Amino acid sequence: MNNIFKNLVLTVFGFIFSAGTALAEETGANLVSLFEIEVIILAIVLIMVFLVFLLWHDAADESSALKRFIAVFMHKLTGSTPIEKEDSIILDHNYDGIKELDNSLPPWWLYLFYATIVFGFVYMLHYHVFNSGPSSAQEYVQEVEFAQAQLAANASGPAITEETVTALTDAGALSSGKDIFIKNCAACHGQKGEGLVGPNMTDDFWIHGGGIKNVYKIIKNGVIEKGMISWKSQLSPAQMQDVGSYILSLKGTNPPNPKAPQGDKYVESDSVKTNQI
Ligand code: HEC
Repeated sequence: MNNIFKNLVLTVFGFIFSAGTALAEETGANLVSLFEIEVIILAIVLIMVFLVFLLWHDAADESSALKRFIAVFMHKLTGSTPIEKEDSIILDHNYDGIKELDNSLPPWWLYLFYATIVFGFVYMLHYHVFNSGPSSAQEYVQEVEFAQAQLAANASGPAITEETVTALTDAGALSSGKDIFIKNCAACHGQKGEGLVGPNMTDDFWIHGGGIKNVYKIIKNGVIEKGMISWKSQLSPAQMQDVGSYILSLKGTNPPNPKAPQGDKYVESDSVKTNQI
């Protein structure tokens, strides 16, 4: 019995975690919050397994308060009529000795049904009445637009990759980079790049190395297990180049409330500079 129980828990655990990790990789979502959700789901599953285990294990003994509580709780959920009282709900037809009980719908099922009605109503208001969320069709159009912008960007010059990317210094690129930064990155890296959840962008210290090539690589691929998501599915290479260049332009700006330096001091070597020309 013990082994079956252990295997069951391990299977559920493994399944939830692998599904979560795969989802995070595919969507570039923040693994930290996914991890929190996973822990909550796991806790609920474990509590349910525990309750069922308690019930199954000596249901007849109603001596302990916990067992009495579980018995009442289960009765509330199932609304079942005890076998001794079946006579009161038996229907008066009889087909070849097969009798029918007039059981009421189990409350757990009814509550679930009501919940789906509420959910359906909220869903309809959100997506179809107030149009506050993108419909599947709108999401599709957005993705197609994004892909076309990427294609156009690729067609108009050599592809930007972590090998070929260069730091831009013209005002247009930096202001586009700033817009992207405020919209997508400031929540974690601070409005002025001073650092918050993510590291400070204005000092000389870098966890993964400074310089446009390293920075571009991190923006593109993320450091998923540390909470820095991958942006390659949301930003085009040109946008990642702009925001990377903007980050480098923040060096030495000394914003208020800076986060303490993390990583190593980065000195851009001559060889890298020559590479960039
Ligand atoms: C959900 C929070 C979050 C968001 C949003 C976020 N980052 Fe990060 N970022 C982090 C964390 C956390 C790290 C530190 C990773 C580590 O410890 O390895 C990091 C690290 C980095 C690094 C490497 C820093 C170093 O010291 O090596 C760069 C570059 C970076 N982020 C750029 C960006 C850009 C550009 C954006 C927006 C397009 C962005 N980040 C959005 C959390 C975030």
